[in-house]
Amino acid sequence: MAKVGIFVGSSGGVTLSAAEKLEELFDGAELINMEEDYDSLDQFEEFDVLLIGCSTWGQGDAQRDWVDPLMDIENDEPDFTGKKVAFFGAGDQKTHGEHFVSALGKMDDIFHARGAKNGFGHWPTDGYEYKFSLAEKGGRFCGLPIDDVNQEDETEARLEAWAAQIKQEMGL
Ligand SMILES: Cc1cc2nc3c(=O)[nH]c(=O)nc-3n(C[C@H](O)[C@H](O)[C@H](O)COP(=O)(O)O)c2cc1C
Repeated sequence: MAKVGIFVGSSGGVTLSAAEKLEELFDGAELINMEEDYDSLDQFEEFDVLLIGCSTWGQGDAQRDWVDPLMDIENDEPDFTGKKVAFFGAGDQKTHGEHFVSALGKMDDIFHARGAKNGFGHWPTDGYEYKFSLAEKGGRFCGLPIDDVNQEDETEARLEAWAAQIKQEMGL
């Protein structure tokens, strides 16, 4: 059975709650909170499937607990060839619509540059209203945007649908 690791960075708890929901939806998945549980790049090696959770801060920046690990990935160049990766994370399309969930787009670039398998968990832009996002690629989001500031009612259904989609796409 494929080992699923859910790596999450969250300052206000929104992306962490989403990660906890995903942990319930994926049998045997392990949740790694980047703030408390993460020590080194070796932890990514333990898993076949990486569900990468990160909220967006600043001007389209990754949540703070991801800053050093992302730098390590870019500098140490670990080999993620063959790993199946999908991205999710919280943002605010109204107040921060000029860079809505842009961190997901940056993470997507960084992981795929290291050989991770592309194309899982892409999500339609329908139902969101924002000005710009680095996570929008080829007319779709490269992961699942969550927006509990403006659309909290939709989060649970989005996570359930996204989990089902990924299971099918990844053959889990
Ligand atoms: C100072 C500040 C900057 C933010 N910048 C962005 C941004 O660039 N893009 C975005 O989509 N959301 C932005 N947000 C909204 C957060 O991503 C949102 O509150 C989210 O729910 C936080 O998720 P978390 O609780 O998992 O950390 C920002 C929020 C604050 C307070």
